[in-house]
Amino acid sequence: MNVPRHAPTSPSVRVGLREDAVVAPGDGALIITNPFGAVTVRGLPARVASLLRELPGTIAGQDELIGRLVASGGTSQEVALLLLTLDRLNPILVHTVDPLLRIVPIARDAVLRPAVLDPGDTVRLSRFALVRRSGEGLVLESPLSRHRVTLNEEAMPLLGALSRDVMVKEAPEALSHLVAAGLAYAGDADEEEPALRTWDFHDLLFHSRSRSGRHDEPFGATFRFLEELPPEPALKPLPAGPAVELFRPSLEEAAAADPPFTTVLESRRSVREHAGAPPTARRLGELLYRAARVREVSGPTPSVPYEVSSRPYPGGGAVHELELYLVVNRCAGLERGVYYYDPSGHRLITLPARTEDAHAMLALASAATGGLLQPDVLITITARFQRMSWKYSGMAYAAMLKNVGVLYQTLYLVATAMGMAPCGLGGGDADLAARTFGLDWARESSVGEFLIGGAAPGTAGS
Ligand SMILES: Cc1cc2nc3c(=O)[nH]c(=O)nc-3n(C[C@H](O)[C@H](O)[C@H](O)COP(=O)(O)O)c2cc1C
Repeated sequence: MNVPRHAPTSPSVRVGLREDAVVAPGDGALIITNPFGAVTVRGLPARVASLLRELPGTIAGQDELIGRLVASGGTSQEVALLLLTLDRLNPILVHTVDPLLRIVPIARDAVLRPAVLDPGDTVRLSRFALVRRSGEGLVLESPLSRHRVTLNEEAMPLLGALSRDVMVKEAPEALSHLVAAGLAYAGDADEEEPALRTWDFHDLLFHSRSRSGRHDEPFGATFRFLEELPPEPALKPLPAGPAVELFRPSLEEAAAADPPFTTVLESRRSVREHAGAPPTARRLGELLYRAARVREVSGPTPSVPYEVSSRPYPGGGAVHELELYLVVNRCAGLERGVYYYDPSGHRLITLPARTEDAHAMLALASAATGGLLQPDVLITITARFQRMSWKYSGMAYAAMLKNVGVLYQTLYLVATAMGMAPCGLGGGDADLAARTFGLDWARESSVGEFLIGGAAPGTAGS
């Protein structure tokens, strides 16, 4: 029998199973159900099985567990089986390093084998690690780690020191566990392997948490606020301000006049030239109608407990959290200014924005094209965040950005079919947008920018 070799454990290191693991007999075996699946262990003597059944939610040193088994009459072979089974359960084992840390596995493939470090080695915190308040305590996490570490107050001096190199001998157990959990690096290890070097801290964290697999947080359509908060309505309450009715095209006439679909798709380009004739209010109205109006609002229903809407572009959950705001620089038949697009009434609501803010929005958009143009019309896409986060856990913001991409392509295709000049932009100032449009940044602010020029070069309108 191959008994796993263990680095000698100090009495300060203790283990237990995740509190939500359930150990139960079944089909002549011991079945350990946990958030990531179930482990079936066969052939365990009764004494070992009953010891394991006490493990969820309790923490004990390895020597203590062995002592308990021996005290109840366990043989050396049973001790070996206990150690083998604990090794197999490593992916759901909680480790504590008293009095500093508690390390909880949070993903299916979590394995914690304390690194063997020399007392003279040095360790430092990963640049991807973060500390935040969670529940009652402080937790240390990283997108590179499949474990979450709860920090006791006694760990604060060590944590503070870890922004620089700390000698292993200062806290051997805690440091070898932090290294094993991927939250810290031994001095000679290269954290910046090529695949990681180019990741921003926040991007990697967002990637790890906005998809399932590397965390144990609720994920997907959980409706976690169903009993706490009413969902926001499908249609944003209209801001006060003079309304400008927009042209409503005949979709039959548009369909007859449009180039074939493949021609539109293949001729679509990002056009960074707004030098010709500006768009007209009529064509702007047609673009918005064909790309972004509300066709219908429905619900709520028992199975979909919030209002949904149908629009020309798809949207996750038919939530349609995106809103459009226009900064109009040049448009025949429409005053320069800042407008909210009412997608249901298909009109623009004039907003009392400051001229310098509108200019700053246009200047930023121009800069995003490399200063290639003075935009005719800047469409800013905002998200009413709570529409999505009321329904979705973990993935709400990621889904909103996907929805932005979908709307970009719809604007691109309709503008191309109409011979207008479209160009999506990759960055904008959400603070400036919130100020310009009079929004609360945390409730609704910008997630996308799109430029529309009067006519693409070489088209009938140019
Ligand atoms: C999400 C997204 C962001 C973009 N950001 C910018 C940008 O900030 N500035 C710019 O000039 N073009 C931007 N573009 C346009 C791309 O540069 C363009 O799509 C790409 O060069 C391919 O050219 P094409 O659109 O003509 O096929 C963006 C496009 C997308 C879809």
